Amino acid sequence: MIKTSFLPCKTLKFPLAKVEGSRQLKCKGPRMELTLVQPDDWHLHLRDGELLQAVVPHSANHFGRAIVMPNLKPPVTTTAAAVTYRESILKALPTGSNFNPLMTLYLTDSTSPDEIKLASCSKVVFAVKLYPAGATTNSQDGVTDLFGRCLPVLEQMVEHNMPLLVHGEVTDPSVDVFDREKVFIDTVLRPLIQRLPKLKVVMEHITTMDAVRFVESCEEGFVAATVTPQHLLLNRNALFQGGLQPHNYCLPVLKREIHRQAIVSAVTSGSKRFFLGTDSAPHERRRKECPCGCAGIYNAPVALALYAKVFEEAGALDRLEAFTSLNGPDFYGLPRNTSKIKLIKTSWKVPESFSFSFGDIIPMFAGETLEWQASSS
Ligand code: DOR
Ligand code: ZN
Repeated sequence: MIKTSFLPCKTLKFPLAKVEGSRQLKCKGPRMELTLVQPDDWHLHLRDGELLQAVVPHSANHFGRAIVMPNLKPPVTTTAAAVTYRESILKALPTGSNFNPLMTLYLTDSTSPDEIKLASCSKVVFAVKLYPAGATTNSQDGVTDLFGRCLPVLEQMVEHNMPLLVHGEVTDPSVDVFDREKVFIDTVLRPLIQRLPKLKVVMEHITTMDAVRFVESCEEGFVAATVTPQHLLLNRNALFQGGLQPHNYCLPVLKREIHRQAIVSAVTSGSKRFFLGTDSAPHERRRKECPCGCAGIYNAPVALALYAKVFEEAGALDRLEAFTSLNGPDFYGLPRNTSKIKLIKTSWKVPESFSFSFGDIIPMFAGETLEWQASSS
């Protein structure tokens, strides 16, 4: 049972100002309404079992499609497993939902080039995810030696135009945790792109100005980045505000304010290289509030409201739609959605928690008031 305190959208008493595409009309009343091409989430953790049932309605409520991460236990390493996982997601969807999960494969040292061929013919698998072994949740089966073990697979991906989605952090324990993204760019990503310039790469959940600069320095259409709400709105102080804050802990970890500002500038600049990927990563409350808490922020219910907040604060609401709904499908070579959704400027309180038979999930900004509310699709 979901316990929510969503305030119903109040009856609108004033004429609404509309911002459609890049055309922003003046707001006559106190409320604004944005109509956007339906957004997609290009980086999402849906989990499986009870957790999948619990969280998938939140994503399906707002997003048309999502790139679904493969870091289950065991990981989704084959096309056959991706097909089965996709079926379980479809079964868990609310009745009538048109949400379309786009599946990914989990790259290991022993993934074969033939598996890439299968994946690319499947029409179910849309990308391959690189987790450096040990970098994050369920990454123990990830890659230990990308250049030594995976080059034939990467070459096959170039052949099939299959994007590589990268968790961009080194795992060397001697590297400071706040420097792991920068060191990964210098030691893995730049050499990779020099070697395979036609490989499509998405640097996932970027957290630094180094990543922004790197993505901007690459050829457009081949290297892009997803950006999460947390890396746009929070800096590393949020981990320690008034005490340790486990619900703000994710990987890559939040960085300094200068990095947050660089990411905000990048996404609000109108560049096509950046697009929406929430990295919504639910963990049951007891697995976050414990002596060794899991990394992951559950933001699916609030993500669109938060992205709108970022763009509004930057004076760039006219560029929101490209980031949420156009740049992602364009990069992946997929059609843009034809359906629309509305974002309404109206205050609502984020639920303190979502309660299920197995426990609670705490959303990002729990209990706080947000100014934008997304309509259901
Ligand atoms: O914070 C994170 N949580 N980062 C990841 O890379 C994985 C994710 C998860 O699966 O929980
Ligand atoms: Zn992720």
